[in-house]
Amino acid sequence: MASRRAAFVVALTGLAALGVGLLAGSAGSLRAERSDPAAGARPAAADLLARGRYLATIGVCEACHTPPKVPAQPPPPGDEQEIARERDFRTNPDWKQYLDETRVDAGGVPFILRFSPTSSGVVYSRNITPDVATGIGRWSVEDIVKALRTGETPDGRVLFLFAPHTFFAHLADSDARALAVYLKSLPPVSNRIPDRQLPFPPQPAAPVPHPADPPTGPSPARAEYLLAAVVGCKECHSHHENGVLREFTGGDPKDAFVGVFRLGPDLPLRTGEKGLAAFPYPGNAVLYGGNLTKFGVDGPSRDTSVFELMRAMRRGIAVEPDQYGRPRPLEHIMLWQFYSQMSASDAYSIASLVKRLHYVPHDVPQGPIRFGDDWRAAFKQVYGNEPSQHDAEIFGKTLPK
Ligand code: HEC
Ligand code: HEC
Repeated sequence: MASRRAAFVVALTGLAALGVGLLAGSAGSLRAERSDPAAGARPAAADLLARGRYLATIGVCEACHTPPKVPAQPPPPGDEQEIARERDFRTNPDWKQYLDETRVDAGGVPFILRFSPTSSGVVYSRNITPDVATGIGRWSVEDIVKALRTGETPDGRVLFLFAPHTFFAHLADSDARALAVYLKSLPPVSNRIPDRQLPFPPQPAAPVPHPADPPTGPSPARAEYLLAAVVGCKECHSHHENGVLREFTGGDPKDAFVGVFRLGPDLPLRTGEKGLAAFPYPGNAVLYGGNLTKFGVDGPSRDTSVFELMRAMRRGIAVEPDQYGRPRPLEHIMLWQFYSQMSASDAYSIASLVKRLHYVPHDVPQGPIRFGDDWRAAFKQVYGNEPSQHDAEIFGKTLPK
């Protein structure tokens, strides 16, 4: 399983710099982490690899590029053990444990894209290990950096870019190089990726201004940089209103792509497989990223501390307890299993940025909205209309006559 999230999340535009003030409060307890890979601006060559690995972790490459541990064929009838394993795989929301750590970044995960009621496509995450025949073994560091910035590959393809690939153009030169060095250090894995199918030819992205080196932290500049170039908080916690991206205000049922996650047992895992779900879950459900501006300076939850926000980000524990006063676990889609490896300094910078937001009232449904086996109701919740015949086909469903 991989984070299909972004497949249904339209590319983020207008990552306008937020008006952020100075970092308030003492960061004394964070000094000890200053030597971590995220902090140094000009590391020795030996540190580049560690920095690349760190960026790959918080940039969640593996969420999409590491294939799940499913055999190429569905379990044969009668193989109860494999059937149980597959069932667990498709319905246990803790999907990260099922990534195949013996094939890190070997690609091949299908993403079904629905552009309109009549137009769709499928892209597969690519093999980004240095395997020469099936991966990026022939690519130089410069080739990788270029692909991350504009989507152009040395073999003349143009990548279909969706978040977080839409962010990577903003990477500092040294960070982009660090990521490339890290990819080249991976164990090569042979895995041939099927051809994608798109109803249009993707265009290269225009180059954007980017720094030579990333800002250091903890600082507001570091937070803004990470959110623009690496980490997807805005992607999941925003929505469009009249074509304008309302940052950090939460997903919206009226905005079919931003901040919406489809959950269910029928997620596509193998080549050619179809399914409506984007993440495993028992039954069909839809989930929205919440309104983070409520934690801001003038928001109703302004009493929430930076450290409570850091705990939500890195430990997956909701800010507010559940109705019985118990800590409420956040859904795994929140990617806290990846952010758990974020340095305290970076997490502090980002949480502090959230604390400086100004409140924008916007109600977001909390927790999964469950539809049981009614996939059409889940579809309607996401896209706002009844599925067309074409929709049913791309997601492998049948419509009642
Ligand atoms: C949301 C899923 C997703 C995430 C997260 C993601 N990628 Fe990708 N990546 C893709 C898909 C899908 C493609 C193929 C696009 C296409 O074929 O048009 C791709 C293609 C690539 C390619 C081009 C390889 C080739 O042979 O064409 C590189 C390089 C790459 N990704 C690197 C990364 C790195 C590095 C990260 C993390 C910092 C990352 N990706 C995170 C989905 C993702
Ligand atoms: C892939 C989508 C996704 C990304 C990326 C993401 N979030 Fe979330 N986040 C969610 C969803 C969905 C929830 C709600 C989960 C739940 O209620 O179980 C959530 C919940 C939260 C909460 C808890 C809110 C509460 O009321 O307790 C905080 C805080 C938060 N996210 C902050 C962040 C920050 C900061 C980042 C970036 C580092 C981030 N999120 C990145 C999807 C995402």
